[in-house]
Amino acid sequence: MAKLTVRDLNVRGKRVFVRVDYNVPMEEQGGQMVINDATRIKETLPTLDLLIAGGARIILAAHLGRPKGKREPSMSLRPVAAKLADLINRPVAFVDDCIGEKVEKTAGALKEGDILLLENTRYYDQEEANDPAFAEQLAKVADAYVNDAFGAAHRAHASTEGVARIVAKRGGQCAAGLLMERELKFLGDELETPARPFVVILGGAKVSDKILVIDRLLEKADTILIGGAMAYTFKLAMGYGVGKSLVEPDATRTAVRALAKAADRGVKFLLPTDNVVATPVDSGKLNKKGKPVFDFVNPKVNSDADIADADEGFDIGPATAARYADIVRSAKTVLWNGPMGMFEDKRFAEGTNAVARAVVEATQKNGAKTIIGGGDSVKALNKAGLGDKVTFMSTGGGASLEFLEGKELPGGTRPSPRGWPSLTASSASSRA
Ligand code: 3PG
Repeated sequence: MAKLTVRDLNVRGKRVFVRVDYNVPMEEQGGQMVINDATRIKETLPTLDLLIAGGARIILAAHLGRPKGKREPSMSLRPVAAKLADLINRPVAFVDDCIGEKVEKTAGALKEGDILLLENTRYYDQEEANDPAFAEQLAKVADAYVNDAFGAAHRAHASTEGVARIVAKRGGQCAAGLLMERELKFLGDELETPARPFVVILGGAKVSDKILVIDRLLEKADTILIGGAMAYTFKLAMGYGVGKSLVEPDATRTAVRALAKAADRGVKFLLPTDNVVATPVDSGKLNKKGKPVFDFVNPKVNSDADIADADEGFDIGPATAARYADIVRSAKTVLWNGPMGMFEDKRFAEGTNAVARAVVEATQKNGAKTIIGGGDSVKALNKAGLGDKVTFMSTGGGASLEFLEGKELPGGTRPSPRGWPSLTASSASSRA
């Protein structure tokens, strides 16, 4: 199967339809939508530079948010066009639609090296439905197709999957972009035969969200360090008191099975031995969704095996953080997915920050490959100002998780014949 990437394409003079993941965090400031974090835009620049140098006429397509088929102005990609123009230091045209005459006319007038960004593909609900007629409309401006949207590759949508199929059927070339290639290299190849010790740090709220990843990593890792609220479900499964901590009682059998598999395979599977807890008190206020808002008072370290009935756990404690940091510092490969606690509140951020510092030390002093599996762990590292000090940070959230679970990503990859995802041809390129 050919492993086609954007490097293999002859794009001179061609209209190249590039699917990117520009689903960036934004907030309203003085009536304008402002981009909070442009990482996903920056990470596409190598692909765009290569296409510009090759003389492509570039048409970028992306989604933003979940407008569910409506033209939701706060989810327009217009501010992204301006940001991209800044970052790439050249004009970026923008059309307030992703299909239709205006798009075809503007795309037709592009010269070699010009860039056009189309409006949010999810303004049409046919995008998420992967509607063939809608994909045909999108494909009208595509001589070739490049998928650089790793973060959206778990979605079989018209712009991630349908267009590629149409372009390939017409004999056009389809390939993975350089960001897609990098994501697959680090989340796939590098973890297939990791340098050892291979230490995995897993956090986040729910065991049920991560169990497939845990199950898969139990076949690869030497040590798995558990943090975040999901640690309390493990503790509950082991018969400890968890107070008011967030737990999934339905997932305790799953947790027990994971613990048994770890013991069976000789994988060190560590849970926190101390926690930072606080007492939740109803503030009497309601949030936007009409749910009661709680204040978390009297934060303190709990070193008992059980958490008191009135308390809730929000972070790993200092002894656990020190133990986890020691293990991480001596690793040769680290994969981190999910924060250790509610790091957005600084009273509960120290566990996550201690792990972040240890990951950086492993990278810089121990020569470890450190791979951050996207989502909240990336946010936490960036918040601590350490984002550029690790080997690789994924731009994917759900996509990274599904890839690590070994699922086929319809908009990007196939798992390798050995079952562990690796850099193989994209589903698009395999059809080309
Ligand atoms: C993401 O932000 O994870 C991707 O852009 C996918 O977005 P979605 O979950 O709305 O499909």
